[in-house]
Amino acid sequence: MSFPATGYPQLDVLLPRLEAIAALDAKGLQGERIAVLGRKQGALTFALRSLPTFTPDERKRFGALANRLKEAFEAAFAAREAELAGSTDVPAAGGGLDLSMPGRGRWIGALHPVTRVIDEIVAIFRELGFVVAVGPEAETEWLNFGALNFPPDHPAMDMHDTLYLTEGGNRILLRTHTSPVQIRVMQAGPPPYRVVIPGMVYRNDPWDASHAPAFAQIEGLAIDEGIGFVDLKATLTHFARRFFAPDTKVRFRPSYFPFTEPSAELDVECQICHGSGCPACKHTGWMELLGCGMVHPKVLEHCGVDAERYTGWAFGLGPGRTAQQRFDIPDIRLEYGGDMRLLRQLAGQEPL
Ligand code: FA5
Repeated sequence: MSFPATGYPQLDVLLPRLEAIAALDAKGLQGERIAVLGRKQGALTFALRSLPTFTPDERKRFGALANRLKEAFEAAFAAREAELAGSTDVPAAGGGLDLSMPGRGRWIGALHPVTRVIDEIVAIFRELGFVVAVGPEAETEWLNFGALNFPPDHPAMDMHDTLYLTEGGNRILLRTHTSPVQIRVMQAGPPPYRVVIPGMVYRNDPWDASHAPAFAQIEGLAIDEGIGFVDLKATLTHFARRFFAPDTKVRFRPSYFPFTEPSAELDVECQICHGSGCPACKHTGWMELLGCGMVHPKVLEHCGVDAERYTGWAFGLGPGRTAQQRFDIPDIRLEYGGDMRLLRQLAGQEPL
């Protein structure tokens, strides 16, 4: 509500307060009524006290304007009071709760693609009788390298450059693979062992479309009497076909790891071009799924396992790269860069 300027500063100073009444809440309204019209302290009452200082003519004019202003205040208070009483969306003595505020958008999350792949792989191996084991990410140099038969200064260690956390003898480092957990499992109790080991690993690797300096791995280990390479081939082929498709073509290529002998890489037919060749598989029609091999007898000996009696195999897989194939993610940095747009897409909030 507005009121024309009177020319009397004692009254005009109150005009902005008259206009502000329309926005007051119930509590503010009650306080403002007393502050303006209160018999003792009210601002308008106070202004009227200056009446005797005017000449008789001025007194008449000032008195009339002050009374009209008082009526205007009373009308504004009454109007706002009626408005608040009739409103349904603002509780009377609010306590800060405003039910007229718009609601917050609901954020539907999704499991990270790498977590999804890890869960799926672990579930497949659980069906085959494997159990899950885990180990520390800050590992001893001996378990990460020595116990796994890496000779000191062997060139294979060049591909496993990492951060050392302590100095001296058996230094602590950020593990470069999940393979040291093989040793921890074998040292913890007697064979047989059938374990899968998911976890993060660290390497001084480039940060590019297929490499991250911190990435997930899943290790597998099966040791028992009479286990041979045929068991490795059969189990890992079954796994690949269970994970991708029953007719997925697989191939084993010779490879080298100090802790397995013989060693191999398992490739599966490229899931994007189905073997015809595409940029994702560098036009080979194949993609590398994992490294594997028969556990080296020296590794078994380091763990106190009788290598004459027990044999077995192990594998190591990068679920980040597997997730790239599964979800058609062109760059691994999207996964390990914590890009929320990826999760939004996987949660179905944006098209893939
Ligand atoms: C190893 O790490 C061996 N420990 C695997 C192994 C275990 C072999 C048991 C035999 C027996 P490799 O360095 O190839 O091997 O790594 C295994 C997998 O990790 C690769 O196939 C790849 O999928 C993934 N990987 C390796 N480096 C990176 C990286 N920088 N970023 C993302 N994934 C990676």
